[in-house]
Amino acid sequence: YNADTKGMLKALWELPEQCARAWELGMAADVSPMDDLRQVVVTGLGGSAIGGDLLRVYATQRLDVPVVVNRDYVLPKFVGPHTLVFAVSYSGNTEETLSAYSQAREKGARLVVLTTGGKLGELAKNDGVPVITVPGGIAPRSATGYLFIPTLAVLYRMGLLPDLSHEVAECTSLLQSMREKLKPEVPLDSNQAKMLAASFHNRIPVIWGSSGTTEVVAQRWKGQINENAKAPAYWNVFPELNHNELVGFEFPGELLRRLYVVILRDPQDHPRVQKRFAITREIMEGAVAGVVEIMARGSGALARMYSLVYIGDYASVYLAMLYGVDPGPVRVIDTLKARLA
Ligand code: PA5
Repeated sequence: YNADTKGMLKALWELPEQCARAWELGMAADVSPMDDLRQVVVTGLGGSAIGGDLLRVYATQRLDVPVVVNRDYVLPKFVGPHTLVFAVSYSGNTEETLSAYSQAREKGARLVVLTTGGKLGELAKNDGVPVITVPGGIAPRSATGYLFIPTLAVLYRMGLLPDLSHEVAECTSLLQSMREKLKPEVPLDSNQAKMLAASFHNRIPVIWGSSGTTEVVAQRWKGQINENAKAPAYWNVFPELNHNELVGFEFPGELLRRLYVVILRDPQDHPRVQKRFAITREIMEGAVAGVVEIMARGSGALARMYSLVYIGDYASVYLAMLYGVDPGPVRVIDTLKARLA
């Protein structure tokens, strides 16, 4: 393992403790209850936005107001004094997020910032906006605990969600036991993440989740394969994909044989969606390189989400190793940001 791969594996190993620490950071934030809250907006990009999506899915059946994720310079028109905006940027220097932060200020929204520092941290400090300062030194996408779990603690402190400390504790201990089976020392034939990486190697991973349960995890797997393994991957969700994507599997051929499909499952998937998994699988089996189903573990929604995130994160790093690339640097994103400067 080179230093970069070791760094990424270390961050992965430490994810369980990161989740526990992230809850504490959120609990320590200087926030007060808000009258007449109508919406929550999470604004950020890439690795800093995925936490917003995790919150959106987590909160859909638990929060009385909608959560909207904004990956843009511009905030939606509805944002105003009754909106809580989480501005999230690991580096604190992402121009779209800085722009959305300024707009939130102009519109009189309530703001909470999550960052390691940068311009966003500085601005928030000067503006008297509460800042949750998360530890630096890892890739933004390795900081998914830091960039999501504090938002749950803030919503609890504002009286909008129940105390979720027991869910965070369950998540932490589940991931601690899972890492013993996913770590590099565990050989291929008993390491689920290595087996997945081997199945993805020289193929195109297609990751399918379900609306309301595993949809964001599927998106996360795709992003991790892109950014860590520098490889293409695609994602979609049930039941929507049964109304379009499946049609593309009708004519078996060389192209389809390059696809390796993963169906991410959750015990809370709608019963009709569970039936759709089985029928879909029957329809396409044989046409693609392989189909595998992975069931979420744990009882709380947080543990179930992270159990799947964890397997995908490890698999993406093992895939990077198979392709012989450094999982850490995302040079093409850096180049693009530099050219825009
Ligand atoms: O994972 C990454 O490195 C990227 O997706 C970044 O998160 C993205 O470019 C936004 O940067 P930041 O998280 O620093 O706001």
